[in-house]
Amino acid sequence: MHRVFSGIQPSGVPTLGNYLGAIRNWVPMQDRHDCLFCIVDLHAITVWQEPAQLLAQTREMAATLLACGLDPKRCVLFVQSHVTAHAELAWIFNCVARLGWLNRMTQFKDKAGKDREAASAGLYVYPNLMAADILAYKATSVPVGDDQRQHLELANDIAQKFNHDYGTEFFPRIEPFIQGVAARVMSLRDGTKKMSKSDPSDQSRINLNDDTDTIALKIRRARTDAEPLPGHLAQLESRPEARNLVGILAAVTGTLPENVLREHEGQGFGAFKEVLTEALVAHLSPIRAEMLRLLQDAPALDAALRQGSERAEAIARPVLAEVKRLVGFLPRG
Ligand code: TYM
Repeated sequence: MHRVFSGIQPSGVPTLGNYLGAIRNWVPMQDRHDCLFCIVDLHAITVWQEPAQLLAQTREMAATLLACGLDPKRCVLFVQSHVTAHAELAWIFNCVARLGWLNRMTQFKDKAGKDREAASAGLYVYPNLMAADILAYKATSVPVGDDQRQHLELANDIAQKFNHDYGTEFFPRIEPFIQGVAARVMSLRDGTKKMSKSDPSDQSRINLNDDTDTIALKIRRARTDAEPLPGHLAQLESRPEARNLVGILAAVTGTLPENVLREHEGQGFGAFKEVLTEALVAHLSPIRAEMLRLLQDAPALDAALRQGSERAEAIARPVLAEVKRLVGFLPRG
């Protein structure tokens, strides 16, 4: 039995990318492993978040995750800032990670953009906090989308350097769990950019709380090209938007892109988009309905999160105590 940890930022409503790339894979893991799923509000404030909105989005995220099938009886669902171990261990990791390692992180470069001097220091050390999230529970399996691969490599570098510097085998190796077909869902407006909850254009993504008409409109407006669909995946290599829509339909209907192409070969995007809309609506509307229902009882959501943080804290406390002994903050033995 592995200990599984994953996180999601409450920086907006989760998108179809979050769902297909990560959340959907978390659900079956609850039956097989010891799972912790964390709403990472400390990570969210590495870019500006309006306080009232952050609080609302955190609750909304909890409702969405529950609606997608996370079950507080079978996993620990909690909010990062409620468990102080994350910030404490992150500080120690700030002192383990090297500037050279952080300088190679592509996500920092993407998010900071041209004006790097104006980015927060938090955005720069974001991956150190991620390493702390995982290692505060000595988790070994981390289910994420493809964009997190580099961060997990860094987390392993930090764990290894900590072990080496303090002469211990304390931290385990972390294995990323990145599932094939939908590990990288792309923007509906630009097939070379990933679908993101923080993209300024709402048309670029499907949000898990979009209603039927909104989904239909966004898919109808999704960028495509004039060619009909080919019979083989290799023929979509230079058609990122088409490949993305085919990938989404495959993921939502539980098949492979090759099978989608076999079925829709020769079709134009008008007909294909109708099929895609129908599949998305069938899949997402029960999630949306359940999310709206759960949001009506905010005290129940808050209570579930409070209980989650108590359970998380109980796992992290002895790990942190041992780290403090290893570092020399507390006497050993
Ligand atoms: P976040 O909130 O950006 O994304 C949450 C999860 O969704 C995946 N994801 C995608 N997958 C496929 N296609 C997409 N377009 C897409 N967009 C997002 C992400 O890979 C992620 O798995 N740094 C993390 C949060 C985090 C974390 C952690 C994850 C904090 N601490 C510890 C694992 C372990 C993030 O940016 O999440």
